[in-house]
Amino acid sequence: MDTKPVPFVPPAPKPRARPASKLATIAIVYRNSLELWAEPAYNEPWILFPGVSSAIVVANDPGLVRHVLVDNAANYRLATGRQLILRPILRDGLLTSEGDVWKRSRKAMAPVFTPRHIQGFAPKMHERTVKFAARYERAEEPADIAKDMTMLTFDILVETLFSGEVAIEPEVFLDHVERLLETMGRMDPLDLLRAPQWLPRITHLRGRRPLAHLRKIVAETIALREKRLRADPGNAPRDFLALLLEAEGPGGLTRAEVEDNLITFFGAGHETTARALGWTIYLLAKAPWERERVEAEIDRVVAREPDPLKWVDAMPFTRAALEEALRLYPPAPAINREPIEDDVYGGFFLPKGAQVFVMPWTIHRNRRLWEEPDAFLPERFHPGNREKIDRYQYLPFGAGARICIGASFAMQEAMIALGVLLSRFRFDAIAATQPWPVQRLTTQPRGGLPMRISRR
Ligand code: HEM
Repeated sequence: MDTKPVPFVPPAPKPRARPASKLATIAIVYRNSLELWAEPAYNEPWILFPGVSSAIVVANDPGLVRHVLVDNAANYRLATGRQLILRPILRDGLLTSEGDVWKRSRKAMAPVFTPRHIQGFAPKMHERTVKFAARYERAEEPADIAKDMTMLTFDILVETLFSGEVAIEPEVFLDHVERLLETMGRMDPLDLLRAPQWLPRITHLRGRRPLAHLRKIVAETIALREKRLRADPGNAPRDFLALLLEAEGPGGLTRAEVEDNLITFFGAGHETTARALGWTIYLLAKAPWERERVEAEIDRVVAREPDPLKWVDAMPFTRAALEEALRLYPPAPAINREPIEDDVYGGFFLPKGAQVFVMPWTIHRNRRLWEEPDAFLPERFHPGNREKIDRYQYLPFGAGARICIGASFAMQEAMIALGVLLSRFRFDAIAATQPWPVQRLTTQPRGGLPMRISRR
């Protein structure tokens, strides 16, 4: 008899039977863009349709994805729609800059993200997670894992890239980030309509205060480090912040660009990984047979291997669960580009100015590319199966020149954090654990992830 359990199918919007009208699109995009997509966006290799203010292309076919992000990347700029959301916040940071500014910045930051340098962060990632996890020893009430993982990944970011030297009260900071994502982290209806820029955007008005707060924190963090550099240059940390400040000057970064990158990395460097961890722990709790396998692996490896860096490659089941969570709930659900000139791929026409959606969200759930696309099945990523997945059908970190600079950092951090947390505690879903995925730049669980935590 086949005793294989029925896989868990986690909550997600069903593809719409029919595409939404233009008016409905404006409301849906404001509420939750993940709810916008109709059947063809999940079934077809590509689609082209008139959007509210410009043509929309949904690119699901791995060959087309490669064409847009790699082979013909020179003909694609960052999409106007995405820039309208992100640039007011991040200005000329790495995620939103283009051309020479982007090239200079990416080159300046590369030394921090070499494999060797990132591996050097492993002890810190471990130490901070152990410290963080102590709170669960006495946990009597359920905790919101979504919030907790945000605290944890932010703490790790600050302790690694910034050596703990930031002018920030974490709870206040994270509160502002949450408000910023809730306000400015979505498409403003006026932007969708491409209304003139002088018309005030409701999202920007509401986001003004948290944004001003974040900018103030960044300026204070730089001032703190400069003071330290003046007082005791020999002993100041050699970290990401030091590197950015050294890159400032003629031929390098401007002061404004340094500030923009601090905001960018404070944001991009923790929110995404927190979402990955939260969704992984949730999915495992809802599929106890998978959780058992992962826990057994972690117990074995953690008991035998004191060096947390070695865990990263020694736990294939744990990695598979994490990768499957990144498939079902990609923290960055959309990667958007825009053709500079008309383009053709395999007979498919991409008009100049179209908003091209390379969406991990729909590609990862595409009916033609995946079996049981909506089910949580980590075995797809087990060794032996993993190799069969096309490089361009699984894109949690994007692809091409603009691939996530923090991908290895994030994977290492998540594996070490899962090793520490799951070896010590069991996370169980409760009646209140009813998350709904919502796009606010990242894929967030609306309703949070309240869970019961017990010592294993
Ligand atoms: C699970 C965690 C993460 C996910 C899923 C993720 C996802 C992505 C994706 C999809 C892109 C490409 C965007 C595009 O092509 O338009 C990207 C870019 C970027 N990511 Fe990540 N990211 C994660 C963690 C991190 C971390 C930890 C950092 C920093 C420490 C980081 C910093 C950045 C930056 C600065 C870019 C812009 C790169 C460029 O345009 O050159 N990310 N990320």
